[in-house]
Amino acid sequence: MAPRIRDLGDLSDEIWVCGGPLSNFEATQAFADLVPENTPVICTGDIAGYCADPSGCVDLIRKHGWHVIAGNCEIELGQGSASCGCGFETGSACDIAAGAWFAYASAALNEDDRAWMRGRPDWAVFSHHGRRFAVIHGGASQVNRFLWPSDSDAAFRIEIDLIRAALGPIDGVLAGHCSVAFTRVIDGVQWINAGILGLPPNDGRPDTRFVTLIDGHARIHRLRYDHTRAASRMAAVGLTQGYQTTLQTGRWPTQDILPAQMR
Ligand SMILES: [Fe+2]
Repeated sequence: MAPRIRDLGDLSDEIWVCGGPLSNFEATQAFADLVPENTPVICTGDIAGYCADPSGCVDLIRKHGWHVIAGNCEIELGQGSASCGCGFETGSACDIAAGAWFAYASAALNEDDRAWMRGRPDWAVFSHHGRRFAVIHGGASQVNRFLWPSDSDAAFRIEIDLIRAALGPIDGVLAGHCSVAFTRVIDGVQWINAGILGLPPNDGRPDTRFVTLIDGHARIHRLRYDHTRAASRMAAVGLTQGYQTTLQTGRWPTQDILPAQMR
């Protein structure tokens, strides 16, 4: 099925970009507080996830009018599915944790939130300083494709070719899903993964990540926020499969999804 694409037009000056808030209200609020007034924000999907406040995150994002594309979580929650569609191996620690947080998020969201999620486009496109950018979640071939900084150019080239087939020429791609912020250039196309707001990238510190695109330059930033409160709220609602500790330690409970060279 062809992706639903939203054209955001020309976003000339400054754009702030975040990956999955993952139900982490404290991180999402801290990020929102940093965004300069009247600055567009693009979110690459997965608003609901591991943490304690899915509806608080959805409310905040809708109130601010951020541009959000559909991650696998918006697709599955919007449809009322039974699982998150993250692409985790069955029985893995990620899969077991997802069973808990997905059921929690699904129960917390109302039908209006789900309808709003169903209305999110699959991709977006915009112009910035004379360059044309696509916004996708995981990959163009699959919404939940994990594309890591350690992957080959060929892996990225497949996705870029699919985006070009749908959108025509592009100079950059904003993506998310894999939880690790990075940038690289493949055949002149800048691939920017904004990381995720809701969890640290397994680097041993609690800070999460976001990206700014200012005057054509992408920069990855650390987000400091009240991770202790976010972790306490997870414990208080029974989300104790290990990721409540991750918010404090910056280490994931499992490295199952990481490529061997990144463990
Ligand atoms: Fe995702």
